[in-house]
Amino acid sequence: MITGKKTISAEINHNTGHNTGHRTALVIGATSSMAQALCRGLAARGYGLVLAGRDEGELKLLSQDIRTRSPVPCRTLLLDLMDANLSPELFMEQAGDVDDVIIAAGDMGATDPTDIANLAYTMRVNYTVPAQLATAAAIKLAKKKEGRITIISSVAGDRGRQSNYAYGSAKAALNAFASGLRNRFCKQGVHVMTVKPGFMDTPMTWEMNSPLIASREYCARKIIAAMEKNKDVIYVPFFWRFIMLIIMHIPEKIFKKLSM
Ligand SMILES: NC(=O)c1ccc[n+]([C@@H]2O[C@H](COP(=O)([O-])OP(=O)(O)OC[C@H]3O[C@@H](n4cnc5c(N)ncnc54)[C@H](OP(=O)(O)O)[C@@H]3O)[C@@H](O)[C@H]2O)c1
Repeated sequence: MITGKKTISAEINHNTGHNTGHRTALVIGATSSMAQALCRGLAARGYGLVLAGRDEGELKLLSQDIRTRSPVPCRTLLLDLMDANLSPELFMEQAGDVDDVIIAAGDMGATDPTDIANLAYTMRVNYTVPAQLATAAAIKLAKKKEGRITIISSVAGDRGRQSNYAYGSAKAALNAFASGLRNRFCKQGVHVMTVKPGFMDTPMTWEMNSPLIASREYCARKIIAAMEKNKDVIYVPFFWRFIMLIIMHIPEKIFKKLSM
């Protein structure tokens, strides 16, 4: 199967562990429940992986698990979004030659929107640093005139709701940023996809009891399929597009009185 300029069915050089002709995906926030499913799905399709995150032990476990299941090159890279000395450019250099950059890190947990002290953290982890990393990735991929960036946002960014508007506003900023990045870099061969998941069965939603919660494996499959078709903006599962369309069209006079 051809994806962009590289095939994802070429051979792997097992001696060097290098991926010969495959695409390589850098996954930022690889230890996230959803990203783990994404990494396994990508590896099963022959993608080499660079797993980035802040938990070295978890990254190693994930890497071992992936290599046991799929014979693909897989390495790990430490990254803490809260590191005050983080250099997105240096981080992208350390990631090496990659074709896909997937940004999955985020934190819905910092959620009490009236917690003033937490707002800067919420914006940094869900918007500022993901946007900086996406920019560094786009500049790097533009140099080889080919690459894809997949930004995991959220339906929460479509309209501010009383329960999570701090997180939602960070994701809204991320959506606008991704739209501009897509526009700016598309002529340079860099494709940017925005993913807006609804509820997935991850620790973020373990306290929720909703029939709308989708399995992370299902979401991972949909995201990979959309990446390979160069989609621009997707909702996963798809029906969230319609749910959000309705929510976005509720008149403000009514919406402000709802408990959502
Ligand atoms: N779950 C849902 O229903 C849902 C819905 C819509 C959108 N999303 C989005 O989907 C993405 C993945 O969510 P998930 O549910 O799989 O979440 P999760 O399991 O809580 O994962 C969050 C990820 O972000 C990483 N992270 C948080 N703070 C970090 C920091 N300071 N530095 C580096 N990494 C950091 C976590 O690292 P550690 O593993 O080290 O903690 C973890 O890899 C997020 O962007 C989330 O906003 C999720």
